[in-house]
Amino acid sequence: MACQSNSFARKRIETFPRISLGMFPTPLHRLERLSRHINRNVYIKRDDLSGLALGGNKVRKLEFLLADAVNKGCDTVITTGGAQSNHAVLTAACCNKLGLSPFLVLKRRGVYGMKGNLIINALQNANVRFADFDDYSRVYEKIDELAAELRLSGKNPYVIPVGGSVPLGCLGYVLCALEISLQMKETRPDHIVCCTGSGGMHAGIALGAKIFFEGTKVTGIGVSDDPFEETVFGLMKQTAALLNVPCDIKASDVRLHFCFGEGYAVPSKEGMAAVKLMASTEGILLDPVYTGKAFAGFLQLCENGEIKENENVLFVHSGGAGALFAVLEQYPDYI
Ligand SMILES: Cc1ncc(COP(=O)(O)O)c(C=O)c1O
Repeated sequence: MACQSNSFARKRIETFPRISLGMFPTPLHRLERLSRHINRNVYIKRDDLSGLALGGNKVRKLEFLLADAVNKGCDTVITTGGAQSNHAVLTAACCNKLGLSPFLVLKRRGVYGMKGNLIINALQNANVRFADFDDYSRVYEKIDELAAELRLSGKNPYVIPVGGSVPLGCLGYVLCALEISLQMKETRPDHIVCCTGSGGMHAGIALGAKIFFEGTKVTGIGVSDDPFEETVFGLMKQTAALLNVPCDIKASDVRLHFCFGEGYAVPSKEGMAAVKLMASTEGILLDPVYTGKAFAGFLQLCENGEIKENENVLFVHSGGAGALFAVLEQYPDYI
């Protein structure tokens, strides 16, 4: 059931400082050939066209997070992710637009040669440091050291956790749900499907759907084996608390379907078939790490009847195409 707090929530979101960085609203349109192909009314939300670097979902979160950084008088921003992180690229892009200096602490795993997003980071003059461990608690220790080092040199750093998936960042996707509700006034979506990578986009849309839609299901497609049930539930509750909207979040509000193949950032057969299907029917590029797998999960939900024939379904395209030029090189059979 929707929360009875639509206009209240809209007013509350407006009280949070936000800096306009992207090109919003992003387009939302019907996928004609794909709809015929799978017998569903398929719509796509083009957050891959959010306007900076190669686009993608992090810009919405960064509009809130970097406003917070600026209000706190910060002049440098530190964030983290994998070597090919889209979040890191977009953090650098948004920082550059605001004259803040971006520091990226990236895990040295996967493709860390001068390819894909690492080229874009270099073009953006981002300060990249590699972490030689996989465990995020150790990465955050390295970030603390870097922040201390920057403070000693007179800087005032602002730290953004991986994926910007904190309640303030999730507000960006609560707003996205509002944007979708206005764009789909005539054709209310029965189902919204998005990717779940660090959980913030999923949590924001699921909370936003509870506030701004009645009866729309939101399913996140998990692209790793992380315990997203807990993460997304926690983020939904914390974001509702931050907004101070009366919204009863239940564990059953978190709908997840996992589709990650052999593991996070390892291209999968289904994921790449989904990338090709989207490219060959609609001329839209997904990616091998996030949106290709998310779209493969979407197709599985159609096959298993979770998404029924003739339902109105919205797929959120959250960007990521930079990985096509890095990750796939090692998987020529998938191309
Ligand atoms: C292209 C793309 N799609 C989806 C996601 C997942 O979004 P979230 O981290 O909010 O779960 C990411 C995360 O980095 C991403 O880069």
